[in-house]
Amino acid sequence: MMEQYKGAGFGELSPHVFAVADVAYRAMINEGKSNSILVSGESGAGKTETTKMLMRYLAYLGGRSGVEGRTVEQQVLESNPVLEAFGNAKTVRNNNSSRFGKFVELQFDKNGRISGAAVRTYLLERSRVCQISNPERNYHCFYLLCAAPPEVREKFKLGDPKSFHYLNQSSCYALDGVDDAQEYLATIRAMDVVGISEEEQEAIFSVVAAILHLGNIDFSKGAEVDSSIIKDEKSRFHLNTTAELLQCDVKSLENALIKRVMVTPEEIITRALDPVAAVGSRDALAKTIYSRLFDWLVDKINISIGQDPNSKQLIGVLDIYGFESFKFNSFEQFCINFTNEKLQQHFNQHVFKMEQEEYTKEEINWSYIEFVDNQDVLDLIEKVEHCCLTCFSSSCSMFPRSTHETFAQKLFQTFKNNKRFIKPKLSRTSFTISHYAGEVTYLADLFLDKNKDYVVAEHQDLLTASKCPFVASLFPPPAEESSKSSKFSSIGSRFKVLVIH
Ligand SMILES: Nc1ncnc2c1ncn2[C@@H]1O[C@H](COP(=O)(O)OP(=O)(O)OP(=O)(O)O)[C@@H](O)[C@H]1O
Ligand SMILES: [Mg+2]
Repeated sequence: MMEQYKGAGFGELSPHVFAVADVAYRAMINEGKSNSILVSGESGAGKTETTKMLMRYLAYLGGRSGVEGRTVEQQVLESNPVLEAFGNAKTVRNNNSSRFGKFVELQFDKNGRISGAAVRTYLLERSRVCQISNPERNYHCFYLLCAAPPEVREKFKLGDPKSFHYLNQSSCYALDGVDDAQEYLATIRAMDVVGISEEEQEAIFSVVAAILHLGNIDFSKGAEVDSSIIKDEKSRFHLNTTAELLQCDVKSLENALIKRVMVTPEEIITRALDPVAAVGSRDALAKTIYSRLFDWLVDKINISIGQDPNSKQLIGVLDIYGFESFKFNSFEQFCINFTNEKLQQHFNQHVFKMEQEEYTKEEINWSYIEFVDNQDVLDLIEKVEHCCLTCFSSSCSMFPRSTHETFAQKLFQTFKNNKRFIKPKLSRTSFTISHYAGEVTYLADLFLDKNKDYVVAEHQDLLTASKCPFVASLFPPPAEESSKSSKFSSIGSRFKVLVIH
């Protein structure tokens, strides 16, 4: 098929992703024009598979045939399995659903050969690391490590995935047609190709295993009011293993989980956490470590593939998480659907608005195509996020426990006349948005918590002090002024910045 589409005029053959890639490549060669290809569609539509085919076709046109070893194009292609192992998971809609957005920029030299590449990723769904629902799975890497050869599993004290809290919240472990043991080997091979050394691979998997053990640490009430202790011998075993794998001090790890240090202008107070708060602290630590690990992988891939600073022409490919509507939708779906609304608007803008304006200007006689402008949904989503932020800041100081209801009430009041906003009859804490692709009902309950994005200072200090250089490098000491307090920023606002620019 690649041969057939190579150089064929656009529209000459049946529609095909290769035809689109071919147009982009020809425009670059003939007119020196850079292009980006946006792949859109609902979750499970085939965006990621299409993206890989686009990349394969561009590597076919712009690659060096017969060159041995790690070429730029091989590294670019092999970066996919690495990113998918750590950033994809089974959802209800797709066994290999991307839980992050990705923009790959292929750089070409003046002869049209691939000379460098850059991968940029957008906010990974980090809540999945510690919370999954039936019949979904956590990120693939956890299962493939549990299926690794016995000596590897022994080293990391891993056994049956059913024994890990972060995996056994769902009863789905195996995927149809996927052998996790094979996937482990394939991921290792891909890591070799993209230039991740054996020591680095060992450190990466030791962090993955540490997260599983961390999730098995349970707490029970301590002797003092609102305090907690490590629950039992089993939890203590997982605490020790986590500390071993992260190469950090076990007592410091325990303290980071069950205590919080408060810095006031007068003094430094150590406050105990109750069992519920300790679980929250544990999960926050797991999410932070995992998202740092993912960002490290992306950086490593970029350094290893290398950029071509002299490249004047490039082709970009955007593969995001598709539109989602589940039985229960939360903040993650809100962010994902916002991204898709924005992409839909871009599509409207270019395919309908600009094209039709051009026809009018050239006085071409055509029948106007009606389309639904979704600017009103985008405005609504931004206001909801703003509401979320203001509720959060006010709740911090005054009503720490009544937040999500206040948030939902505020939404109902503010948007009661908005035709894209619907208040469900039977719920006090959910709201419905009428998206371009359909109505989605969101549960407001966890919006405020999930929108928080900060690293707890104790967690930071614990991991900065790790004796494992890899772990310590994931947590470089923060700049002076922010080191004493847990800095708060919102994921929603970061999303907005990323999506809008
Ligand atoms: N061209 C294709 N040929 C055969 N199977 C395909 C093709 N495209 C997609 N599929 C099947 O559909 C599944 C979902 O595709 P893919 O992961 O690309 O969806 P997606 O649009 O990226 O979804 P998400 O938004 O959840 O990431 C694939 O795992 C594969 O089984
Ligand atoms: Mg995908």
